[in-house]
Amino acid sequence: MNSFSLYIHIPFCEKKCYYCDFTSFAKNSDMLEKYMLNLNKEIKLYKEQLSDYSLRTIFIGGGTPSCIEHSYIETLLENVFKTFHMDNLAEITLEANPGTLDNKKISSYKKIGINRISLGVQSLKDNLLNSIGRIHTSQDFKESFYMLREEGFDNINVDLMFGLPHQKLIDLKSTLEEVVSLDVEHISLYSLILEEETQIFKWYKNGLLELPDEDLDRTMYHSSIKFLRENGYEHYEISNFSKPGYECKHNLAYWKIKPYLGVGLNSHSNLFGKRFWNHSTFTEYNCLLEKKHFPVEGEEKIDRDMEIAEFCIMGLRLIKGIDKLEYRNRFGEDIKNRYDNVIKKHVHNGLIIDDYNYVKLTNKGLDLSNIVEVDFMP
Ligand SMILES: C[S@@+](CC[C@H](N)C(=O)[O-])C[C@H]1O[C@@H](n2cnc3c(N)ncnc32)[C@H](O)[C@@H]1O
Ligand code: SF4
Repeated sequence: MNSFSLYIHIPFCEKKCYYCDFTSFAKNSDMLEKYMLNLNKEIKLYKEQLSDYSLRTIFIGGGTPSCIEHSYIETLLENVFKTFHMDNLAEITLEANPGTLDNKKISSYKKIGINRISLGVQSLKDNLLNSIGRIHTSQDFKESFYMLREEGFDNINVDLMFGLPHQKLIDLKSTLEEVVSLDVEHISLYSLILEEETQIFKWYKNGLLELPDEDLDRTMYHSSIKFLRENGYEHYEISNFSKPGYECKHNLAYWKIKPYLGVGLNSHSNLFGKRFWNHSTFTEYNCLLEKKHFPVEGEEKIDRDMEIAEFCIMGLRLIKGIDKLEYRNRFGEDIKNRYDNVIKKHVHNGLIIDDYNYVKLTNKGLDLSNIVEVDFMP
């Protein structure tokens, strides 16, 4: 039986952070009730199409899934368990924001089978948290973390950011030291992306805030890699680090271009040889589901050339690199047939290493991955 991964989008937050352009909105109880009803309808609509597939991983993301009542999450997962084959289920992650957790929620998550929590922390410097619009303090994070541990959660991710306004190298270093001292299993470390529609972008454009320059940004990245490696974390993807055996199985499915279904507002899927995506407005999403129609806005076929290119581009995000044997088994040819010149070019300019089993980015390549990726496009 084929496996698939399921992403479930909860587009609600307590309040919008100043840097974030994910599909998420400040919570409103009327909208929430209707949305959750329709989300459950959408899941049921896929029952037949996925009757030959078995569910491997679930990621409940957002938004902030932990900011809604836990009964919604229970109903949602019960519906998922009733709808799909479950004999292969290995990981259920829920994204949570430290300001939104309490003992009741945490114990309900555990009971329903959630076995991985991803905490959005960003920094443990309260002045920085405040300046990027976070609703919590570093103390809130520690309290949430200990509550999760007490309830038995033994697979916790912490999202951190660098390149934040006025952030210094020492701020990042002390945040990493604290997080590592808690022995978290997984760390995602993202460089701030200045997204056009955000408050931070507007302030920056109007000269109202300073951001670390490119050199400092790269120093932050490479010194974090060194520090985390020295402390027992494997750097396994451009922005991700884990203790051995704690890589995120759900995200690995994306990076390995395995089948996934995304449900909820603006979710994307890669299934049945095509890519398709949902509407991004509540009105259209709800309206279609009320008529029991799929809330899909568009789709495109993925031809062989595109599938190969995506496999390579996502493979390069992994620190191990593109697995040559996996490439051969999947596409029935050697990677050199198609990419010999590209590989030689970037080996020559020091951006990739071509070893016996893998094609992977060098340290310099990690900073210039987009230059390499372009050359793998069809
Ligand atoms: C969809 S958010 C969900 C997490 C949860 N809502 C929270 O913030 O606590 C996932 C992560 O994306 C990262 N992120 C969001 N906007 C970003 C941006 N503009 N640049 C870099 N990383 C960003 C943050 O680290 C965030 O925790
Ligand atoms: S970073 Fe998380 S909490 Fe903040 S607005 Fe984005 S999704 Fe919501």
